[in-house]
Amino acid sequence: MKDDLAGQATLVTGAGRGIGAAIAREVARQGSDVALVDLGSYDEAAVVAAELRALGRRTVAIRADVSDFVAAEGAVQEAVGALGRLDGLVCNAGITRDGVSWKLTEAAWDAVLDVNLKGCFAFCRAAAPVFRAQKRGRIVTIASINGMRGKFGQSNYAASKAGVIGLTKALARELGPSGVNVNCVAPGFIRTEMTAKLPAEVVQRAVEESALGRLGETDEVAAVVSFLLSDRARYVTGEIIKVDGGQYI
Ligand SMILES: NC(=O)c1ccc[n+]([C@@H]2O[C@H](COP(=O)([O-])OP(=O)(O)OC[C@H]3O[C@@H](n4cnc5c(N)ncnc54)[C@H](O)[C@@H]3O)[C@@H](O)[C@H]2O)c1
Repeated sequence: MKDDLAGQATLVTGAGRGIGAAIAREVARQGSDVALVDLGSYDEAAVVAAELRALGRRTVAIRADVSDFVAAEGAVQEAVGALGRLDGLVCNAGITRDGVSWKLTEAAWDAVLDVNLKGCFAFCRAAAPVFRAQKRGRIVTIASINGMRGKFGQSNYAASKAGVIGLTKALARELGPSGVNVNCVAPGFIRTEMTAKLPAEVVQRAVEESALGRLGETDEVAAVVSFLLSDRARYVTGEIIKVDGGQYI
């Protein structure tokens, strides 16, 4: 299926690996130029950028900490400067620092809320003036089904992702009148480096929870994000779309 992002430019955070890299590849496949923002996986983001440039796309890899408002504004400006425009923003960067609530440290709470929630807001805030001025834009945030159902050992992560869902709905209302759609994708258990470190029994439980009886792949999340960035989803906003193989139901 063609989402046709030809001639567009998309900024993806956390694009060095995992779901973010898959999103960068998919939007490029659909014709979009791409700005790849990352911090710890910046070098990998630069490699993906070079790969997509070889396909004929304009790309730029940007090193930025998503939780830093100033860095977020700088990254959006750099993306617009390098690509000449900005049509879509995907707030994907995220981390986990799991632990039961009675043992969870302040540092683990702050780190997860800073990257997952503040980082998402920082980029939406930085891109909003661009989108409002051109009266068009698409924002896709990445939450998690664990932000909807809660998860043992993930009070910080679940709270951050529930926050992303609330943020998505508020921004959909604020930016809708300016022609900006804001939607959220909530993945279930997807095979990435983030989940590779989890114990085998946790992985097995996710497989058993899933109606489809398997884990998800990064390209299966990227396909839905690409759809939401496209004109095919132009009357969809404020929506939370689970991509979880039925894990939540
Ligand atoms: N993998 C899953 O099962 C799953 C499920 C639900 C939701 N998610 C969400 O999907 C998103 C991507 O997850 P993933 O599995 O690909 O993770 P990942 O750890 O493989 O990739 C995350 C990327 O974000 C980058 N990043 C982290 N902190 C950053 C910061 N401060 N500034 C800039 N970049 C930063 C990392 O360097 C990395 O490249 C996250 O928001 C995650 O919470 C993942």
